Amino acid sequence: EKTEHWAPVLLQWFRTHRRELPWRCGSRRDPYKVWVSEIMLQQTKVEAVRPYYDSWMDRFPDIPALAEASQDEVLRQWQGLGYYSRARNLHAAVQEVQSVYGGSVPDTKKEILKLKGVGDYTAGAILSIAYGKPEVAVDGNVLRVFARLYRIGDNILSASVKQQITALAKAQIPADRAGDFNEALMDFGAMICIPKHPRCEACPLTAYCQARRAGMETELPVRLTK
Ligand code: ADE
Repeated sequence: EKTEHWAPVLLQWFRTHRRELPWRCGSRRDPYKVWVSEIMLQQTKVEAVRPYYDSWMDRFPDIPALAEASQDEVLRQWQGLGYYSRARNLHAAVQEVQSVYGGSVPDTKKEILKLKGVGDYTAGAILSIAYGKPEVAVDGNVLRVFARLYRIGDNILSASVKQQITALAKAQIPADRAGDFNEALMDFGAMICIPKHPRCEACPLTAYCQARRAGMETELPVRLTK
């Protein structure tokens, strides 16, 4: 049975199915742009984020522009996206990056995790996508994908399953393509390994999927809120 080393297959799929998104232009990626996009995407779908991201970058194209803005204006630009603490935390953290790091987003996990509103997921996304570091970015989509690939029947909301999946994901990261790998997982989770009824007929990873082999793809993941 094939269980190991499916990352190259996923990356090959990503080459032809990658979504064109406004924060994905160019091969060298601006950490500020990755950061803003990941914060906006946390509780909001890609299609809803798009117009906000574009007008945000028109108004606040870089760290100094956002650091100098008033909180009123920042909240006005965020108006409609909801969960306003995201905007307040982002603004405060960008001001900190401006004053403490001279406007450069730090490139170590230890420093980046100290920024307001930046948790494990956002830190991993920025470090891998913008800086090419071999970090994972485990969100709900990634938990779902891994629960199916490895037929994990325990609650994906538990800390131990999150740890288990983080370790499995780390073991897959191609050292030189961590950012692509993480973005490929995001697109794969959004387009193929979707909630409820995954599109297994279009899936490049069926040969590696233990849930599919057991006919359990619609029953996983198990998601039990307390
Ligand atoms: N969802 C969360 N982060 C994303 C990203 N960078 N691209 C697409 N979808 C995402």
